[in-house]
Amino acid sequence: MKVQYFKDYGSMSAKAAEIVAGEIKAKENMVLGLPTGSTPLGMYSKLIEMNKAGKVDFSKITTFNLDEYYPIKRDNSQSYYKFMHDNFFDSININQKSINIPNGEAPDANAECMEYEKKIEKAGGIDLMVIGLGPNGHIGFNEPDSFLLPNTHVTGLTEATKEANKRFFASINDVPSKALTMGMGSILKAKKILLIISGESKREAVKQLLKGEITTKLPVSFVHLHRDAAVLCDIEV
Ligand code: GLP
Repeated sequence: MKVQYFKDYGSMSAKAAEIVAGEIKAKENMVLGLPTGSTPLGMYSKLIEMNKAGKVDFSKITTFNLDEYYPIKRDNSQSYYKFMHDNFFDSININQKSINIPNGEAPDANAECMEYEKKIEKAGGIDLMVIGLGPNGHIGFNEPDSFLLPNTHVTGLTEATKEANKRFFASINDVPSKALTMGMGSILKAKKILLIISGESKREAVKQLLKGEITTKLPVSFVHLHRDAAVLCDIEV
């Protein structure tokens, strides 16, 4: 796991965008895993700029998002479906049919998760998986627990995560209590991982991560086991 520190959010986001664009240049029909949250917003803006300037072409890639609240309507202002379209997909030349996001409207959540995992496999697996970090060490919605799950699954959100994400909702009671998330295996099977970390609220989780111990109490610590993982961080720990 290679960690690179940046003096500010802008330079970290530019580097993240450069890495993503570089992977697409190397393989135009690559499969890209994507996160939500405030951390990737700078990277998405940069990639949009690069796309408009003709420096990166998204027309042949396939994307898989990490997670989605459950249940949630796609047109809910806080759905990850809406987030991804508003902040990225609607502004780039991607083929809308190549976008995959777990369906928060699916009547059968378990069936949706099994289907999602199959779709990833059918696409040939993920080439580059970009992930963010929850303040409690979660990745996707793989929350700290006594065990973690390998495949895409339905999960409950911890109070800490509801607390961290309530800023986007009218109140904590409006944060859905469940989510559909890629599992640890879905993430770790990606050929490359790019972990982007921004802000003071992540300091403790980063400190724990850098200890080098692997524990289900800090899901991100499993990234240590990956052969090709890069970490970009805008806080010096
Ligand atoms: C959510 C998402 C995670 C994301 C995390 C951090 O909980 N499920 O995938 O990494 O938020 O978000 P932020 O970047 O806003 O701190």
